[in-house]
Amino acid sequence: MKKVTVVDIARMKAEGKKIPVLTAYDFATARILDEAGVPILLVGDSAGMVEAGYETTLPVTVDEIIYHTRAVVRGREAAFVVADMPFGSYQASLDDARRNAVRLIKEGGAEAIKLEGGRRMAEVVRAIAAMDVPVMGHVGLTPQSVHRMGGYKVQGRNRGDADEIFEDALAIEEAGAFAIVLEGVPAQLAQEITEKLLIPTIGIGAGPDCDGQVLVINDMLGLTGNKVPRFVKRYADLHNTIFLAASEFVKDVEEGKFPSKEHSY
Ligand code: KIV
Repeated sequence: MKKVTVVDIARMKAEGKKIPVLTAYDFATARILDEAGVPILLVGDSAGMVEAGYETTLPVTVDEIIYHTRAVVRGREAAFVVADMPFGSYQASLDDARRNAVRLIKEGGAEAIKLEGGRRMAEVVRAIAAMDVPVMGHVGLTPQSVHRMGGYKVQGRNRGDADEIFEDALAIEEAGAFAIVLEGVPAQLAQEITEKLLIPTIGIGAGPDCDGQVLVINDMLGLTGNKVPRFVKRYADLHNTIFLAASEFVKDVEEGKFPSKEHSY
């Protein structure tokens, strides 16, 4: 399989090819997603919620993202791996941002980093991109801003807010990002941004017109309970599959049916 690079990702937009992106946090899943031809794996700080059970992404640390990124990098052959900068790893100073971005590349093995925020984060994007580290932006509903937003709410519903998000996206492109996530914004706004930007937009809850789409792997596999946002499409029901397998195992052990001769030495 040919390794996906940042050049391929730019070419996909230029050629009008849609860009599928999934989050991944571990070796086994990364291997399957890579085999399935997912070109970009995002080691999102969503790991904190769907893997560690935190209520928000805020407690996630750089060390935790590095741990997950290493596992994902070992599992993939072709996919391009983007590691998320967790809350607190890039907001306090440009030096912090540079050092933590370097850690995700050097220690994690990622090929790019992602960070949240619009105009106020443009200088951070510029500083990291200036080190030749590809940066993916993220505007609209930015989960690390959950307390400012007052919850996980669709952003940019009125024209004034939409204009702000539009300006944010332009600033992140101008600062040197190679792609940008548009999360939780009206489809019309995402379409306008996608038409304006030269870099690919990757939507999540942002309608069908983005250049690519990203989903949290646990959501799309049915591992996150019944309450998922409206934008999630469930492609499998692994909760039930695992529940049935575990229940059968419990029964087999209790009834002395496992291990049988076949599974014994
Ligand atoms: O952390 C994450 O998984 C993300 C995606 C949902 C875009 O930021």
